[in-house]
Amino acid sequence: MGEQSDRLTKPSGAPVDVRPADAWNQRYLSGDTPWDTGVVPPEVIAFVSSGTLRRGWALDLGCGSGVSTCYLARQGFRAVGVDLAHSALVRAFQAAAADHLPAYFCLGDVCDLSFLRVRADFALDVGCLHGAPAARRTDYIRSLADHLLPDAFYLLYAFLPDHEGGPGGIGPGDLASFAPQFVLRWAQHGLDRTRPSAWYLLQRTQIL
Ligand SMILES: C[S@@+](CC[C@H](N)C(=O)[O-])C[C@H]1O[C@@H](n2cnc3c(N)ncnc32)[C@H](O)[C@@H]1O
Repeated sequence: MGEQSDRLTKPSGAPVDVRPADAWNQRYLSGDTPWDTGVVPPEVIAFVSSGTLRRGWALDLGCGSGVSTCYLARQGFRAVGVDLAHSALVRAFQAAAADHLPAYFCLGDVCDLSFLRVRADFALDVGCLHGAPAARRTDYIRSLADHLLPDAFYLLYAFLPDHEGGPGGIGPGDLASFAPQFVLRWAQHGLDRTRPSAWYLLQRTQIL
């Protein structure tokens, strides 16, 4: 068997780093999840209610316990939540099943959505990408672009960079890496408790 017998591998044979999943799982298991308030962010409700979106597939990237995924399903989308924390997805699945919602959940890495066979009209990321290492963001953007229809919208919530001790953050300057697959439609800056943060609305371009 050799020394690699306890390592997971991707179909390509490349090893999978399970440490981030373990860390997120632990946080859900121990209840160390200050973001998991059970409340759909008002910014999400405002945009979904604005009449801008086609009701096709919607992706919730880093969906956690699925609060926003279930909301999207209630609003008429076929909603798919993706997260690497198994313990969060169990709760998400139970919540959707209890209300018979068209919400589906996948255990996976948002930086490689190749397991998804849909192209969506809308993608949401509330607090996932801003914690990803910079080196993985290119993969995330490429994979997201591949799974969105032309003109689809992508709503991103992120901490801004340069806050001591927090995850990486995403500032307006970082959005250049979304081009040319995405264009920025608007940005709203605010505060998450004491930490500067922003909502960004991007739109998939016609370039495929
Ligand atoms: C701050 S929480 C936000 C959860 C949810 N969006 C919410 O608003 O409640 C970040 C989530 O992203 C997930 N996550 C982090 N990195 C991920 C990755 N590479 N792939 C999939 N999920 C990831 C974590 O497990 C966690 O559930």
